[in-house]
Amino acid sequence: MYHVEDHHWWYRGMEAITRKLINQHIQTKTKIKILDAGCGTGAAMTTYLKDYGEVTGIDLYPQALDFCRKRNAKHLARASVLDLPLATASFDMVTSFDVLYEKGVMHEMKALKEFFRVLTPQGKLLMRLPAYDWLRGEHDERVHTNRRYTKNLVKKLLEQSGFIVEHLSYANTILFPLAVIKRLTEKILPSKSQSDLTLETGKFNELLKRILASEAFFVSKFGLPYGLSIFAVARK
Ligand SMILES: C[S@@+](CC[C@H](N)C(=O)[O-])C[C@H]1O[C@@H](n2cnc3c(N)ncnc32)[C@H](O)[C@@H]1O
Repeated sequence: MYHVEDHHWWYRGMEAITRKLINQHIQTKTKIKILDAGCGTGAAMTTYLKDYGEVTGIDLYPQALDFCRKRNAKHLARASVLDLPLATASFDMVTSFDVLYEKGVMHEMKALKEFFRVLTPQGKLLMRLPAYDWLRGEHDERVHTNRRYTKNLVKKLLEQSGFIVEHLSYANTILFPLAVIKRLTEKILPSKSQSDLTLETGKFNELLKRILASEAFFVSKFGLPYGLSIFAVARK
């Protein structure tokens, strides 16, 4: 992740969608306190979340935090989303991008209740998760997927954790048919397991980024009806 997240089309396209959602659904006139829960190797924290306020990152794996330090991330802690060593009502926004689906989480309700606890009253959660369990592929083996979600399941989990759901949308919709073909081909012709992030897209990188980024307006305004990822905005 550390080696691809600054330039890979998927990360840069998702950044465009995330920025649009934050601008549209989250109060950003003043600098806010943000928790990036499951911050990984730190690109979101250090490249664009910092534009909205002070970002604290937590991750279960020390190796991930080492990469965050290479990016000069300041506020870091090794912790599980299942048991946050953070004060109640201490963050205005919690972001969690592709974390709760991991085998390292298992009980996502417990994590959602922790996000709820550390948010200030009216604080917002912005979350991204992979969509549709039937789309499981070699990529999921490599990235330790426990399960993939539907919009309805995400809504149910958020509401059961006490959140008020403000916005839900699928994303990565335009490229969805290509991904379905890739996944189905993998099932028929199994090959050596690899993550999608290892796929070199070469000169198509910029084009693919633009295609994904072009969904930002529709994801944030109306919501898209299907796609490879799910975005959720929920309020405490
Ligand atoms: C697919 S990565 C996503 C990283 C980052 N949010 C991003 O968008 O690039 C999932 C991250 O979740 C972390 N993780 C897995 N289980 C966790 C847990 N129980 N608590 C905190 N982090 C966890 C992993 O270490 C990994 O960095």
